[in-house]
Amino acid sequence: MQICDIAIPDNLKQRYIDSGITELYPPQADCVEKGLFLGKNLLIAIPTASGKTLVAEMAMHHHIARKGKCLYIVPLKALASEKFEEFNHKGVTVGISTGDLDRRDEHLSKNDIIVATSEKVDSLLRNGARWISDITLLVIDEVHLIDSPDRGPTLEMVIAKLRFRNPAMQIIGLSATIGNPDALAGWLDAELVTSSWRPVDLRPGVFYNNQIHFREGTRQVKQVSKNYDDLNLCLDTIAEGGQCLVFVSSRRNAEAFAKRAAAAIKSEDPALAAYAERLCAGAEMEMEKILAACVAKGAAFHHAGLSRNERSIIEEGFRKGLIKCISSTPTLAAGLNLPARRVIIRDYLRFSAGEGMQPIPVSEYHQMAGRAGRPGLDPYGEAVLIAKEECQVEELFNCYIEAPAEEVHSHIAEPTALYTHVLSLIASGFAGTHDELSAFMNRTFYVHEHRQGRLMHKAVDSALEFLIAAELVTEVGEHLGSTQFGTMVSRLYIDPRSAAMIVSNLRDAESYSDLGLIHLICSTPDMPRLYARNSDIDRLTKMMEAHIDDFWLPFPENPEDVESYFRAIKTAMLLSDWTDEMPDAKICERYSVGPGDIYGMVESINWLLHASAELARMFASGFYPNIHECETCMKNGIRRELLPLIRLRGIGRVRARRLFNHGMTSPDEIKKHTPEEITRILGQGISEQIFAQLEREEKREGRETGTDTRGDDARRGQSTLFHFGG
Ligand SMILES: Nc1ncnc2c1ncn2[C@@H]1O[C@H](COP(=O)(O)OP(=O)(O)OP(=O)(O)O)[C@@H](O)[C@H]1O
Ligand SMILES: [Mg+2]
Repeated sequence: MQICDIAIPDNLKQRYIDSGITELYPPQADCVEKGLFLGKNLLIAIPTASGKTLVAEMAMHHHIARKGKCLYIVPLKALASEKFEEFNHKGVTVGISTGDLDRRDEHLSKNDIIVATSEKVDSLLRNGARWISDITLLVIDEVHLIDSPDRGPTLEMVIAKLRFRNPAMQIIGLSATIGNPDALAGWLDAELVTSSWRPVDLRPGVFYNNQIHFREGTRQVKQVSKNYDDLNLCLDTIAEGGQCLVFVSSRRNAEAFAKRAAAAIKSEDPALAAYAERLCAGAEMEMEKILAACVAKGAAFHHAGLSRNERSIIEEGFRKGLIKCISSTPTLAAGLNLPARRVIIRDYLRFSAGEGMQPIPVSEYHQMAGRAGRPGLDPYGEAVLIAKEECQVEELFNCYIEAPAEEVHSHIAEPTALYTHVLSLIASGFAGTHDELSAFMNRTFYVHEHRQGRLMHKAVDSALEFLIAAELVTEVGEHLGSTQFGTMVSRLYIDPRSAAMIVSNLRDAESYSDLGLIHLICSTPDMPRLYARNSDIDRLTKMMEAHIDDFWLPFPENPEDVESYFRAIKTAMLLSDWTDEMPDAKICERYSVGPGDIYGMVESINWLLHASAELARMFASGFYPNIHECETCMKNGIRRELLPLIRLRGIGRVRARRLFNHGMTSPDEIKKHTPEEITRILGQGISEQIFAQLEREEKREGRETGTDTRGDDARRGQSTLFHFGG
């Protein structure tokens, strides 16, 4: 099927043709034949790299040309950015929405395509974003994620809610790794498109004894290093002009591999030096310095401990062909288009809490393998597993290479998932009676799979019981409604159990303490917690004893809860060090984390601090100003004394501290100095910027007497959602 013969707008046709795409791949043509442009729902379960995105894009343009609006759901923020870049061309407007979870983001309504994570879409539904009802096409990328125990239920509910709201909407699900596509297609009322066709030959093999064993034969690999097979495999591809992605099981392994690879590659490309310099510019920690040194030689590592900026610098260097090899944890495993000729899946066992080392799922193997051999980037791809003994060669073929991906199943019946989703159904008007609630839940994939769904309905009942007891939901006869508290919790997008914990402690607390609140939040089910090792316990106990009066939560009586209590204390300690202005590098060293982890944790607690402040407004208004200040301190990593300075643009924790230590404790103090004096402390550019801002503010104040300059405070008040019934 030729591109020029397809019913898509001319500008899109031209763009494809200009980029060398003139003909549809066979499974893509299959999608057209099965009703892509006729509004049919499709589940496109075809191999990695077979062009699923292009099918979705054609459908989106078809809708846009008919005044439709498209929502493209992705599992990861990194993938959201890649898709945003891919779709953002002349002729259509694209919006991306992955941020704060309690906003309506009405500005998104002007876009033709909106790329978002499922959590974000759920929060938009809860906050009543009006444009949601304009959506005519829903695309769900990596739809097998419905099987994820922690994130799958949200995706499932989002799909069910959108279908309920917009019954005429077309749905397209995409995935390369679903073991039971029939079941999912059945639920989605979708035509199923399957295929084993891949545009670029992907050769899977197993390495053993200096040879890669393929089904068709073997390939000898030069033994450069005596001890490291993974390195030999990597150098072999680089010698041939290709690039390599190596998947390993831990951050430490990723770093160690990159160091070895850098020492062996020893590139002296000046363009690499520029990348290394960009990384060095912000490098405070040992790990970041090592990363920059590796990149200078042509190798890199990639994991969630890196900051977002570091990760994107590395991805860019790899895409440009400069960085020859990346060793990665699964952060790069799904959906991305990277020029990796050879993917090495070195570790197929991974540590899982409570279960020790466990084999990775087959579908994850296929996702990783599928990063190799992407169209237009490499002539072929190789995906190599490494065997430690000869007998493993055949075993790896059977267990991974030739094994089908796992089936996907609904996790909606797990009670922990249901508290939040049952509340949201009642609070956002999807269900106003017991019958309506059951009827809605009968639309889930779970009931499609299990017919009756008795277990799920039981779990719904017990969630409902909790919600009623916690005064989030009211029950009058057959009718269910959400209280003002319930509506707020649903919109704030926090777990009802977290909300109940926060509110009961706010109500009971005699006096306010930052540490008490932070520890409380770190104990809620919404907050990711650090692991507490045995070697940490002494330090944590001392800390607990020293601050015993500050903690709101008592030491648990049940021995089973002790570990969780200590984990919350350790996490709270990290966050307290952060607001105590401890340098990032020192925090990383003290808690064995990376900068990406600090930002992740700060992001999570900020969202919960924000929610706590809103809950305090309702139940313990005396605490509101303190909590709100704590939120600003946490966002910036500062002590309270820097609050007046932090509102200046361009002033973060480090610069504010420098000014403060020079006696400038507020903008008024700064005004008493000359720009030259500030330049000596902060440099010229930023000094000019500060004075320009102060001047603007002075003028404005002159014009509108009585205006306050609450800065962030005021902005937040306007933009966050706090309008009931709105
Ligand atoms: N008909 C075509 N002709 C040539 N190239 C194409 C065609 N369709 C898609 N491509 C290219 O194929 C590449 C891979 O496509 P895409 O990222 O959509 O794969 P995918 O099927 O989503 O794989 P994954 O399951 O790994 O996410 C893209 O670079 C895309 O431009
Ligand atoms: Mg894809």
